Amino acid sequence: MPKTFFITTAIDYTNSPPHIGHAYEKVLADVIARYHRLKGKRVFFLTGVDQHGQKVQQSAAKADMPPAEFVKDITQEFVDLWKKLDVQYDEWAETTDERHQRVVQGILRRLFDDGQIYKDKQEGYYSVRQEQFLTDKERGPAGEFGLEWGEVEFREEENYYFRLSDHKQWLLDLIDKRTKEGKPLVIPDFRQVELRNAVEKIGGDLCISRPKSRLDWGIELPFDKDFVTYVWFDALTNYISFAGYDSEIEKYDREPQEFRDRWPALQIIGKDILVPAHGIYWLIMLHAIGFPDEAMPQLLVHGWWNLSGAKMSKSAGNIIDPFVLAEKYGAEALRYYLMSDIATGQDADFSEERLVERYNSELANDLGNLLNRVLAMINKYRSGKITLPKRRPMEISAFHVLIQQGIDSYCQGLDGDAPEYPNIEPFHVEDAIRATSLITVHCNRFIDDSAPWKLAKSKSEKDVLKLDAALYDLADVTRILAILILPVLPKAAHRIFDQLNWKMELSEEEKRFSLADAEWRRLPDGHVVGKPVPLFPRIEDVNKSDVTRVITE
Ligand code: MSP
Repeated sequence: MPKTFFITTAIDYTNSPPHIGHAYEKVLADVIARYHRLKGKRVFFLTGVDQHGQKVQQSAAKADMPPAEFVKDITQEFVDLWKKLDVQYDEWAETTDERHQRVVQGILRRLFDDGQIYKDKQEGYYSVRQEQFLTDKERGPAGEFGLEWGEVEFREEENYYFRLSDHKQWLLDLIDKRTKEGKPLVIPDFRQVELRNAVEKIGGDLCISRPKSRLDWGIELPFDKDFVTYVWFDALTNYISFAGYDSEIEKYDREPQEFRDRWPALQIIGKDILVPAHGIYWLIMLHAIGFPDEAMPQLLVHGWWNLSGAKMSKSAGNIIDPFVLAEKYGAEALRYYLMSDIATGQDADFSEERLVERYNSELANDLGNLLNRVLAMINKYRSGKITLPKRRPMEISAFHVLIQQGIDSYCQGLDGDAPEYPNIEPFHVEDAIRATSLITVHCNRFIDDSAPWKLAKSKSEKDVLKLDAALYDLADVTRILAILILPVLPKAAHRIFDQLNWKMELSEEEKRFSLADAEWRRLPDGHVVGKPVPLFPRIEDVNKSDVTRVITE
């Protein structure tokens, strides 16, 4: 059986409702997952929520609710958002789930029995945000702790520790080995450099517990009931616990077939949780429990959406609420904006004006208008029926060449690291979108240049054939465009297929779209298209109120 394409995202904290940053990451994963489905791959897309920890316990206390009840409500908001935004995951991770807790405890027990976890007393500076003690290595040049650590306070505590530093050299070697092999652990490149520098600085071990007297909203240590596990050991484990990993099995190659068929995953995370969580703790945890080097995941690190150049934050009251945007403009408009107005790996500035601008120009004016013109002309000049041109197969026009180039750059943007594109960084959804936009522009230009309305008036045999060929090609490219936009705009893609009358009733819904069909001449001779219905009604009268919402903890 071919291997499953396994893709995961960070699991979101359930201390406050979802914001636009969460939406971006999940839509990005959804687009990549849908693209792989389009290529005919079996896909396992895992996402979910991070329900334990101090932040959640504090937020629940503020709301005067038991944590279990509090996280249920917030979890529901995430589930509702993914439904609204058409984020089609295959498995949903909630860290209060019993099977997850069992795996976490199984891993902790094994590491403890192995001597990889030990008890010690510590006093020092503690980052409330990252929920860990800090060392001098984390201090900046003036002795200060950087902003990434949030509030820092002095503490003294007995706790359990994981022998992180024992694995430092292994991780450095692995980073180098994977780079040499051309399968970097981290993309984009500059993040890999950042990770390597951070690994060089590993000095001590990792505190993995909290006394229950201070935090009881967590998973109990299997070897000491007075403690719960520190949040990262709980959260990171979701990537395997919800994919069928069995922590009772000691050898990786004895793990259930289902798990080994899925793992390793492509893991999509934001830049703030590469170092130290995913790039260091996670990889070392996997190594410590016996995952071989070839079973280490790949980390795709995305940038952040900011507002007017500054970080969105609850305290600044500038959190962008994705529900309000989706309600106002529709899920597809929001998906399109989030995927097109940022370069994967980089930061971007959120702008509602840009969302509207892009939608009106690239979707309403270009793509929507193209579909409308093509169907209207076929209906008007040929009563809805298209005729396969009798051209010899070798006769390729400049228009065909442009379209083929567009299809190729689309695949390059999304595939990137496929063997045929050795020098291109993968997952540049924005480039793929640009390619589809260009195809649309070429089609509209082709209509203007070939002027079907003039050809329709001519009685000459040559013009009749020219008009047939132009209408056929335009219908065919519109069909190809529907396939290409499917990962980003699933609803619009189906609507284009419906209007083209491209039913494929016999195949299953999933198979209605396939990247293999994105080639010329798949529409049969004599095919009858449907009537045009506006695809993307223009957004007029933009009212900017209500988009930013203060999300209180
Ligand atoms: N719960 C941890 C992750 C545990 S993964 C085992 C966490 N949660 S979070 O809710 O704070 O963030 C979830 C994801 O959203 C992270 O990947 C984070 O980078 C991303 N984003 C949070 N704010 C963001 C933006 N403003 N823009 C883009 N993504 C951002 O960290």
